[in-house]
Formats: sequence, structure tokens, C-alpha cells
Amino acid sequence: MDQYVIKGGNSLHGDVVIGGAKNAALAILAAAVMTDETVTIDNLPNVRDINVLLQAIAEIGARVERVNEHKVRINGSFIQDVRVDNEFIRKIRASYYLIGALLGKYKKAEVALPGGCDIGSRPIDLHMKGFRAMGAKVDIAHGNIKVEAEVLKGTHIYLDKVSVGATINIMMAAAMAEGKTVIENAAKEPHVVDVANFLNGMGANIRGAGTDVIRIVGVEKLHKTEYSIIPDQIEAGTFMFAVAAAGGDVMVKNVIPKHLEATTAKLLEVGCRVEEFDDAVRVISDGKLQHTQVTTLPYPGFPTDMQPQMAVLLGMAEGTSTVTESIFENRFKYVDELTRMGADIKVESNIAIINGVARYTGARVNAPDLRAGAALVIAGLAADGVTVVDDIYYVERGYENLEGKLREIGASIEKVSGEKEIQKMILKIS
Ligand code: UD1
Repeated sequence: MDQYVIKGGNSLHGDVVIGGAKNAALAILAAAVMTDETVTIDNLPNVRDINVLLQAIAEIGARVERVNEHKVRINGSFIQDVRVDNEFIRKIRASYYLIGALLGKYKKAEVALPGGCDIGSRPIDLHMKGFRAMGAKVDIAHGNIKVEAEVLKGTHIYLDKVSVGATINIMMAAAMAEGKTVIENAAKEPHVVDVANFLNGMGANIRGAGTDVIRIVGVEKLHKTEYSIIPDQIEAGTFMFAVAAAGGDVMVKNVIPKHLEATTAKLLEVGCRVEEFDDAVRVISDGKLQHTQVTTLPYPGFPTDMQPQMAVLLGMAEGTSTVTESIFENRFKYVDELTRMGADIKVESNIAIINGVARYTGARVNAPDLRAGAALVIAGLAADGVTVVDDIYYVERGYENLEGKLREIGASIEKVSGEKEIQKMILKIS
């Protein structure tokens, strides 16, 4: 198991370039198998979850050619099996996108039930409700979901809860169903729009993505396309918050500032300066932060995937703040770890009440999940002394070369492997 060793206290300066959006890429890779022609996808983040999905796609017979770290060619004409299962795919949430993709194309699929970060119960009832409404038979047995439809028919679907995964999954299946599908109360996240644009590039007929009503007219066949994935709003937000916490002046490049509005608004509230450019945002912070309130909400609200990073900022802000988590019920598991670094946080139900402390102190902490792991790294950058973050496996699911990018803007952070290396690194940097 690898760790990050971080010596806090360096302010951050310079430029950082953001990669492609992991959550858009996962759905787009799954959708790529829906045509028998070759699809080229660029600006792919080179992270663990993406590589697991590519492996699963290859295992069912699709041809996957990695042109370079960030570019892949996929040809789905060689698929011989619609059963997807291996020990890794069971661990990623986005395996469920293969259900919608294969159901749309082959009218059947059998996929291992998704795992993903343990941030609360993560049902997929809405996905199944959508597939059933389109005429598919859905069974769960032996840890797999099996879907099958003689005819997949367009229909009217109302999502009881705004769900990114269900919106995209239903949209994919509907792209190749017979007739028209309307998804109401759809998720409006930038990656929903990105997947719709990608499918339309393959010849699908999807309108309204980015609003809460998406209309899809099914087509019989999809064709080849070349596509570049949008920048990752959460990676961008994580770097913006790192600058806010550690202090400094950083240009966060290759972003779509519109996608970062909720994140930017909170940075302004806590007292940072943010300047927007066409495809970059500059964050300036003296590290002195003010308290505020935040509630996670579906886009365009404040993203739940930025909630732990926000709590880290507020943990060192003057006064009392609150963070309300309204999407996932178990997303405060990092609080105990942050408390070990000196934070004063009390969680009551889905609200964290945070009394800001003057400074965090370095400690040995565990990354409980992907975003919480990134948040602990931010705390380490702002802390007095050395922080060791264990279980960075989670962080590497979704961040490409986090330590390298942070080093380039002046952070003191190293990735090490095991106790001996930890001790050696602590000696070297302290
Ligand atoms: C995706 C993202 C995740 C992000 C989340 C919310 C991926 C791979 N993951 O997760 O990083 O935190 O969006 O922005 O893209 N729900 C149901 N029934 C369902 C589906 C969802 O009740 O069938 C509930 C969930 O429990 C949750 C809420 O709906 O409370 C939103 O979940 P959803 O948007 O579906 O999240 P994911 O797609 O799993």
C-alpha cells in the first residue's frame, strides 16, 4: 500500500493543468461500445477507475487500443459476451454504465453489481425503474444485474430523485430504443451533457441534456466519432481549494469556469480572490479564511464531491461553519481523521458543525474514500509538520498524478510505499 508524505506550510504558486473528467469519461467509454465502428476518445484521465473499465471492455471482446496515456480507440464490433464481471469491475461504481450501453445495443446485459466509494447506501433502483419502463426484464441474482428486452421501447420516465447515474444510463439505452423517451427530473451535471454530446456525435438524437427534461429519439445504429472529454470540475475544484487552504496564487488551467461556479462562489465567501478567464481560473489566497454555510445539491448546486474539501477549508476558517450533506448519508467518515489533525468538528445527522481552528497539525491519517482522501491531502498541505496519508489507493482512483501536480506548484509531497520509505522521507523533509 502506498502513502503520501506531506510537509505542510508551503504556499502554492504557478500553473496547474486539469485533466479530463473522470465521471464523464467512465460513461463515454461504456457508450463507445454501442457502435461497431471505431471511436477515438481523447483527454482521458489516466486514473485507476478508467483503466479498470477499459480492462472490462476489453474482456468482453471489444478492441481497446491505448494510443497514449490520454487517448484511446475502441471498437465494439468484436464483442462476443454481454456478461461483465471481474474482481475489479465489482469495485467501481460506473460498471453500471455498461448495463445501459449493452442493453441499448444488444437488448441484453449481465453486469456485476457496482461497488465504488463507501459514502452511503448507493441504490440503483432508479436505473432499473427506467430499464423496466422501456420494456426490459430486470433480475438481480448472484451479485449480478441481468437485463433483457425483446423490444426496447421509448417511454416517459420520471426520476423520483435527481440521479446522475440513472439519467446517463437510461439516456444510453434510450439512444438505441424504438421511439421516443422523455426523462423528467433529469440530472443537469456537465458530464450528463458531455455524454449526450458524445452520443449525438455517434448519430444519436438527444435533446435537452443540461436541463431537467431530456428527450431522446432512438436510432437503429450509431457510428464512429472522435471526441475530447470535458475538463474535470472536481479535480479543478480540489486544486482551487488546496490554494485556498495553503495560501498562494495559482492559475488553474484547462477548465470550464461555468462548471466551477458553485465552487468559486464558496471560495469568494471564505475570503479568497478568484479571477475567471476563458479556460482558466486564478485563485489567490492569504490562507486566512472566514466561516460560511454550505449544502451539497445536484448541479448547479455545490457538488457533494467537493464536500470533504470544503469542510477542510472551513475547519481552519475563523468562526463556526456548517456543512450539510444532502446527497449521500455517509460522507463524513473523514471527520475522525481530520480531528486527529486538530479539527473541531461535530457531526449531527447530515450536518457537520465546524469550529475553525488556527492551524491543523500533521498526523498519520487514512483516506476513507476518494474525495475525502484528497481533502486530507489539502489539510496536510496547510498543517504544521508532517502528515502521512494512508490508503491513497482511493485517491488514485480519481486523481492523475496528484502529488506531481502539487509539487509543480510548490507543495512538499511525496508518494512512498511502506514504513521504511515513510520514515526515510520524514527524516529527509523534516
Ligand atoms: C455520481 C458520481 C459521484 C457523485 C454523484 C453525485 C460517477 C461514477 N459517480 O454517482 O462521484 O458523487 O454522482 O454527483 O459518476 N439514488 C437512488 N437510486 C438510484 C440512483 C441514485 O436513490 O437508482 C440516490 C443516491 O443514493 C444519492 C442520489 O440519488 O442519494 C444521487 O446519486 P447519483 O447522482 O445517482 O450518484 P452516482 O451516479 O452514483
